[in-house]
Amino acid sequence: MPYTIHLIAAARPNFMKIAPLYHELCKRDWANPVIVHTGQHYDINMSDAFFDDLRLPSPHIHLGAGTGSHAEQTGRVMIAYEKTAMETKPDLVVVVGDVNSTIACTLAAAKINYGATGTSSLHRPIIAHLEAGLRSFDRSMPEEINRLATDVLADALWTPSPDGDEHLINEGVNPDKITRVGNIMIDSFEMLRDKIEQHHTYEDYGFSKGSYAVATLHRPANVDDPDSLKKLCDTLERISTKIPIAFPVHPRTRKNLEKTDLIASLEANNNIHLLEPLNYIRFMNMVLNSKMAITDSGGIQEETTYLKIPCLTLRPNTERPITVTQGSNELCTIDDIEAYVGQILNGEFKKGSVPELWDGQTAPRTADAIQTLLQA
Ligand code: UD1
Repeated sequence: MPYTIHLIAAARPNFMKIAPLYHELCKRDWANPVIVHTGQHYDINMSDAFFDDLRLPSPHIHLGAGTGSHAEQTGRVMIAYEKTAMETKPDLVVVVGDVNSTIACTLAAAKINYGATGTSSLHRPIIAHLEAGLRSFDRSMPEEINRLATDVLADALWTPSPDGDEHLINEGVNPDKITRVGNIMIDSFEMLRDKIEQHHTYEDYGFSKGSYAVATLHRPANVDDPDSLKKLCDTLERISTKIPIAFPVHPRTRKNLEKTDLIASLEANNNIHLLEPLNYIRFMNMVLNSKMAITDSGGIQEETTYLKIPCLTLRPNTERPITVTQGSNELCTIDDIEAYVGQILNGEFKKGSVPELWDGQTAPRTADAIQTLLQA
């Protein structure tokens, strides 16, 4: 009997992380990978379009949890996942990243008791965290709380970079739990590189290669406060006089822009192209052909480092410091971002290099780690 492995997918940044692992596990005869979608992200272009691009089947299990406050969202996923796990009795659960569903499923799984019928001596599924050990050291970010709590509870911690290992060791984690598997996002990119390169999204939107910026902004700290959001929009408008901006707008950001008159001003600006959230292939085509990215996302800091494209991250800290110390990412504020844009346009910005194990082979390494855990 193959082992049942739940892959938890919840929000847009998760889908790229489970896809390569799902495809790899399908090749292994001891594995029965099951995709569990919690429903945290539910819009077609935030969810279904990613499943299509990443060649994932429809989720085998859908928890339909939807949106809400942090506690509501986390609680709904916990209740639904506990029930599902008791019914389907997975041998192992893979949680990825740092969204509310990551901690919700971890917390639910950690307290399950299958009784004597469970295959694991734990009487519950083994819990593995892919993208473990990342820390921003900023507990005002919900993601940091999710990362910390998930890593305390998970049985196996798979890290993308040496700083992840160091943080876990510093927190007193048993080193036997830690395996550096590399960055799974790079596997998704490599899996779809041909399609991404052949696409012509940037031309469809009227941009030319290497002469536009891609902006994505959705962090509560940047977009929830009307004054900060206004300052941000004013800054983007000034930057757009130097380089046109493609701006796929996250639903959170759109809601906040629509509450004010900011959306009208952005829409009236011919150098700022407001777009719906793009599916994975189209979005990566936009990034690949851009001059720079302006973002507050986690994943884009990594993707641009891999592609050696300058990235300006509008945050005071990052849980992915290797993208700054080694890669092409720089943290910036609303006050200094224009100077960095100038550096990039003048060819004075750092070039960066690609971190070790960001090589497109993270999924096979992770599948090997799963096999070791299950057969131990
Ligand atoms: C979540 C993650 C964040 C991740 C981001 C990527 C947490 C705490 N946050 O933030 O780490 O970087 O996803 O997108 O888990 N909405 C829609 N349609 C959707 C999804 C959301 O309209 O498909 C709306 C929701 O109703 C809500 C808002 O967008 O009003 C925010 O959604 P939510 O999932 O709570 O958080 P994100 O900001 O997307």
